Amino acid sequence: MGNSNSHTSVHADWKEVAPGVWKLRTGAPSEVTPASIVSPAANVEALTQMGVGSLPFRLDEIGVRADKVRTVVTLPLQREERLYGMGLQFMRMNHRGRTRFLRVNSDPKQDTGETHAPVPWYVSDLGYGVFVNTSRIATFYCGSSVRTDSNLHHEAKDRNRDSSWKATPLSDTVEVVVPEPGVELYVFAGPTMLEAVRRYNLFHGGGFLPPKWGLGFWHRVPKSYTADEVLAEALEFRSRGVPCDVIGLEPGWHSRSYPVTYEWDRDKFPDPERFVRGMEEHGFRVNLWEHPYVSPDAEIYGPLKPLSGSHTVWHGLVPDYTLPEARQIYTGQHQTEHVDIGVSGYKLDECDGSELTRNSWIFPQHAEFPSGCDGEQMRQVYGLSLQKMTADLFRSADRRTYGLARASNACASTLPYVLYSDLYDHRSFVRAMCNASFSGLLWTPEVRKADNAEDWVRRMQVVCLSPLAMLNAWADGTKPWSFAEVEPIVTKYIRLRMRLIPYLYSAFARYYEEGIPPVRAMPLEEAMAGGQEKDGSRLDSTEFAYGSAAESELDDQYMFGDSMLVAPLFAGQRSRRIYLPEGVWYDFDTGERHEGGCYIEVSPGLEIIPVYVRDGSILPLMPELSHAPGPGEQVPIELHHYGTASGACRLYDDDGVSFAYEQGEYRWREVALRVDQEGRSEASVSPVEEGWSSAYSDFTWVFHHLE
Ligand code: GAL
Repeated sequence: MGNSNSHTSVHADWKEVAPGVWKLRTGAPSEVTPASIVSPAANVEALTQMGVGSLPFRLDEIGVRADKVRTVVTLPLQREERLYGMGLQFMRMNHRGRTRFLRVNSDPKQDTGETHAPVPWYVSDLGYGVFVNTSRIATFYCGSSVRTDSNLHHEAKDRNRDSSWKATPLSDTVEVVVPEPGVELYVFAGPTMLEAVRRYNLFHGGGFLPPKWGLGFWHRVPKSYTADEVLAEALEFRSRGVPCDVIGLEPGWHSRSYPVTYEWDRDKFPDPERFVRGMEEHGFRVNLWEHPYVSPDAEIYGPLKPLSGSHTVWHGLVPDYTLPEARQIYTGQHQTEHVDIGVSGYKLDECDGSELTRNSWIFPQHAEFPSGCDGEQMRQVYGLSLQKMTADLFRSADRRTYGLARASNACASTLPYVLYSDLYDHRSFVRAMCNASFSGLLWTPEVRKADNAEDWVRRMQVVCLSPLAMLNAWADGTKPWSFAEVEPIVTKYIRLRMRLIPYLYSAFARYYEEGIPPVRAMPLEEAMAGGQEKDGSRLDSTEFAYGSAAESELDDQYMFGDSMLVAPLFAGQRSRRIYLPEGVWYDFDTGERHEGGCYIEVSPGLEIIPVYVRDGSILPLMPELSHAPGPGEQVPIELHHYGTASGACRLYDDDGVSFAYEQGEYRWREVALRVDQEGRSEASVSPVEEGWSSAYSDFTWVFHHLE
């Protein structure tokens, strides 16, 4: 760093840009950022309702040092503080003591911070969050660097005599390094970690509300299927009584792929509109796979060429979608060829390459784009631009979409996409689902294949209790009934998924309105005191020469909606420990009562994934339909009350497909069960006014009162 040009400064010009959100912009960072791409409108009303927040440090304790090429931000860090977030992380939950290199990477197999969706944002268990709005690769030293002026020299330990010596010694600083001459920085108040996450989401517009059908079961067919084969496979779901809402087509629907044309292969799909409408008649939505690299055979190749980058991928163009003209060409084609004929959404693949992995296929970092962006920036925000562009396309048709994306970044909570990966370690998949919730992201632990029937069941149980329940059979041709010996178990969970739609949909409505992630990591729960413990360090073994940094992080269990705690088992596991937060909990399957605030040990059979429900919870369940109800269609609701305590739940009531809810076309149905001292109970469901077309018909109560 050129010291002569650099200066450390402490800034007084922080501005409170929304209640509990402070911003500092200094120097000359690039104008292309996650926020410039998503251009989110803060939900000021919801932020105002959260009230003023406080921080555990003063803003003037944050230092910024910039020179012509790099900016370094220093932030205070306390001795026991834990840091979460940084996007879709697979390897760990608490990043304290680690350096996170936040580069987009399609094959993130090492614990470096690289991932499909790196988010330059962390949230601390002291109840605040820090966000750097940058399209550059930021590096976060999460207490992994120690400055001489920290005066921590008295912390030096003698490794020969002191077993508390650590490879990563105590640090009192987080340092964030951004390779550009300035920075746009935000600090979000808590007071709790969940509130800091909520403020981050709400400041970026809140969570998105998927269409109801998006919460049903998804199946992606093998990549070369014809229209007839797709329909035949879809109808097998119906004949077997396995619910399914979305059928995904993989690369073979394009007339050319790798690079792609976005045009239908007319041999396989002679009449695309008839095909899509025909699927619709049977209750299936069609989702199309695509990637961003445009084939020389595509009609839009010519118009896009001058608006594309200096390098190709698979000899296809890499369009610069930060340019409105490029977006117009893409969306014009997609609208007439797909959206207008009823296609429901996209799977945005391969927008996340990195050249330092198994295969090199992405454009280089030094690529140049007509907007002035370079390859580094374009890679960091490519997934985000594609998500935003396609989301806008469906919005202009007043249809909600729900799809898949393999790359993302910050400010993404309003985007109707769920992340996925070619990785397949089940344990990391569950950790990623937890971690996504700290950073305004959603993740699907998709199922593709399995080593055996046990692995199959364990994966299916988890995916059915995730943001997007999907079997991706693009390569393996699997189907839910692939392992005949366990078909009843798998079918049971797909049906449970269907029954849970009203519950999950209402959790998403809270994501939209209040920024509360529908699927959440345990540290975001209140009443988590004592839930984390340290593993014994194994310093000085050959394997762990610097000790094991491993800590029990509760990254193998999570909250699904407001009331359900899910604790998966992985293939080969016969029993496991589960931490139940403070309070009383009931086993979802047996009704057995457990005191929380401690670990319990369970050994369920293969037919069960452990799920616990809080005392007083009310779960609204619908019938096992073959697909989600459409607009104007009413379903009866069973209200399952667990335990002995009073409880309430809120049921979101709207058309389930359009954006009319943004204009007030929704109702919250307030469901309550009040239990008095004598144990007498009084149940109520708030009515809706005459003329309101409710999505729910009658309500029946089911009580699970087992002591
Ligand atoms: C991969 C993607 C898979 C599948 C495949 C088709 O990049 O992760 O899910 O879509 O492409 O070629």
